[in-house]
Amino acid sequence: MFSGAGLSAESGIPTFRDSDGLWENHRIEDVASPYGWERDPALVLDFYASRFHAVGAAQPNEAHRSIARLQAKFNVLNITQNIDDLLERSGCRSVVHLHGLLTRRKCEFHREIFADGRFSCDFKTDQDAPAKLGELCPKCGGQLRPDVVWFGEAVSFDFDGLSALVEELCQNDGVFICVGTSAQVTPASHLIPIFAPVRNKYIIDLRTQPTGDYTLLEGPATAMMKKLADELLGE
Ligand code: APR
Ligand code: ZN
Repeated sequence: MFSGAGLSAESGIPTFRDSDGLWENHRIEDVASPYGWERDPALVLDFYASRFHAVGAAQPNEAHRSIARLQAKFNVLNITQNIDDLLERSGCRSVVHLHGLLTRRKCEFHREIFADGRFSCDFKTDQDAPAKLGELCPKCGGQLRPDVVWFGEAVSFDFDGLSALVEELCQNDGVFICVGTSAQVTPASHLIPIFAPVRNKYIIDLRTQPTGDYTLLEGPATAMMKKLADELLGE
């Protein structure tokens, strides 16, 4: 499974590219980039506190639940660009958040700066409240921030490690499903071609997209994901 903002849209969490380059009335670079953080960390933390509460108030939808149902029969890996925890809250177990997770916080110096993959500070923690200004890292005194990947920051994920999974999917007649992503930004544009050799591939999206040899299920993620899960589960 590979998902984007369209998966959570029907839970009331807005998608990005529909919003004129603004994110909840902010310029994206002001609230979701290292530049914004340097300029005004209070604004960034306020912005993510609002996102944190919005996600907390939202519920998983039928699409999340359909993905969770697939686990009863299949080995499901969820790679998502979403920073909400709605997949986990619907019962999904293997979830990789390419762009981080809003409900975790980390030290502002949690940056991979050494060639051997070590971080300048590795502090991260789950949270039941958003990071606040003045809330400092217990290891190094840095300001805590949400554990999300901002524009201009690197995604740390081993894409080469996916080749074994792709081989397994090919051998076992496995399935690759893309749901609710415009696939315009990296790493989505980088990840999708990796799954090209898989025979059974589906795209679920509200709008028609160039589909190649994918089966396109055009419509809301909730209805389409339920339909596909029913089909795959033989229900
Ligand atoms: N059901 C199915 N698809 C939907 C629905 C829905 N209810 N609502 C929207 N979509 C589709 C849109 O048609 C679009 O193709 O979901 C896609 C959402 O695309 P984007 O807004 O570009 O979101 P995403 O692909 O997740 O963006 C990737 O870019 O902005 C950054 O970091 C951000 O993680 C995000 C990344
Ligand atoms: Zn630290």
